Amino acid sequence: MAVIEIQNLRKTYKTGFWRKTEKEGLKGISFEVREGEVFGCLGPNGAGKTTTLKILMGLIFPSGGTARILGMDIHDPRVKQQIGFLPEQPYLYDYLTPLELLEYYAGLSGVPARERRKRSEAALARAGMSEAANMPMRKCSKGMLQRVGIAQAIVHDPKVVFLDEPMSGLDPIGRREVRELIQSLHDEGKTVFFSTHILTDAEAICDRVAVLDRGELKGVDVVADLLSKARGKVEITWQGQPKIESIRAMSLDYHATGESVRAVVKEADTDRVVDAVRQAGARLVSVTPVHGALEEYFLAKVDAPKKEAEE
Ligand SMILES: Nc1ncnc2c1ncn2[C@@H]1O[C@H](COP(=O)(O)OP(=O)(O)OP(=O)(O)O)[C@@H](O)[C@H]1O
Ligand SMILES: [Mg+2]
Repeated sequence: MAVIEIQNLRKTYKTGFWRKTEKEGLKGISFEVREGEVFGCLGPNGAGKTTTLKILMGLIFPSGGTARILGMDIHDPRVKQQIGFLPEQPYLYDYLTPLELLEYYAGLSGVPARERRKRSEAALARAGMSEAANMPMRKCSKGMLQRVGIAQAIVHDPKVVFLDEPMSGLDPIGRREVRELIQSLHDEGKTVFFSTHILTDAEAICDRVAVLDRGELKGVDVVADLLSKARGKVEITWQGQPKIESIRAMSLDYHATGESVRAVVKEADTDRVVDAVRQAGARLVSVTPVHGALEEYFLAKVDAPKKEAEE
């Protein structure tokens, strides 16, 4: 079942003092997100990711097209209880503590009074914020506020979770924790729709991704397919023999630093290369498939119009 259905969605912003200049934020995009998917919305700055999320949240009105969540119109009040949302720049009240804020939002989302405390504590724990649950938010770091925003998005146990740049402002440990949190929502069968610039995060956790660029949808693809298409290159590293001529001849990229060597070879050559390393008496350190498939896909999609214009 499609949990999110977007059809020919358009948004024209009126800008300038007299609001006479028009700017197309979205130029008619259509796609669907299925139940239980982790779906990544990718795109450079100004692509239209936040615009799409704001329309889905009912915060701004589209200039054309339709959007539905769980089969209902996005303005249907029943939708609100089933969705959670982390905005791009969450506004959180300076003088409240995370726990107070969460209890407030839990109340707004219809969580019964006697369950609010328990649910709020659980959501803060999932977002890694238990220890600072009672600290005023004006004292929280950017990363801590981002976590409170995430906890706020899941406190009422929504079926569909929308996150605008959930990893922004987080250090590498925080990013990994958010990835794990999204995975755990996925394991519970929830649908997660999030925007990001960070392609490695998208590659690690998304079932499918959409690429937006300057208000246009450039592609929607299954991440596993993209990765399997890109498969075919393997990085092999070893120590002890800086030059093995037979491997140099096969390598796409051969680089020695002192005693350590890194060679990138075709997948089909892996066994031959590993045998050659052993025969040369070197110590094999690693054999790893080369990643970066999503990055290549992304760059090809967002670069395409420029290339066409140059031709
Ligand atoms: N309130 C607004 N008034 C005028 N133009 C706007 C407004 N909001 C967004 N835009 C324009 O619409 C386009 C899409 O913006 P949007 O914020 O959706 O991009 P984004 O993909 O979220 O970018 P980022 O990665 O920087 O967050 C941009 O060109 C932006 O300048
Ligand atoms: Mg944005």
